[in-house]
Amino acid sequence: MLHEVLVYPNKILKQKSLPVEKFDEELHTLLDDMYETMVAKNGVGLAAIQIGVPKRVLVINIPLQEEEEAQPKENTIEVINPELIECNGKTKYQEGCLSVPGYYEDVERHKEVKFAYQDRNGVRHETETDDFLAIAIQHEYDHLEGKLFIEKLSILKRKKFEKEWKKRNSKK
Ligand code: CO
Repeated sequence: MLHEVLVYPNKILKQKSLPVEKFDEELHTLLDDMYETMVAKNGVGLAAIQIGVPKRVLVINIPLQEEEEAQPKENTIEVINPELIECNGKTKYQEGCLSVPGYYEDVERHKEVKFAYQDRNGVRHETETDDFLAIAIQHEYDHLEGKLFIEKLSILKRKKFEKEWKKRNSKK
């Protein structure tokens, strides 16, 4: 089922998400719905809180290049109760977010991330990454803590963003 994605400055997005304890049918439906919603919106990642569910659940799907179906379901990483174990180095990447539609800006992140998580059956996994997944997991993890990428901007850039955002939304 498709869900509506909450958009900044919706206060629900500031909520801290709670750990998942039951790996049941309800969780599986949530994961399937999140995948559907993310792909419909052409997103590469989605946190449950973005559809109003305060649970530590993320889906990430990095599009394949030159494929007809660029985001097949089997390529989705379902991340439940993630822990960032180790973060190293620095990198900058132009980020966007389905909760801040149409806005893209460079954000500084760690280059390498080692993280642990559970899958939809509660099985624990550990992954080390230094490519786009490293950026995505840091961005999505922030959602679980109630943070958006615009909070990482410099004061100047943030002010500019707020001005543009107000202007754009008053036109509607
Ligand atoms: Co986001």
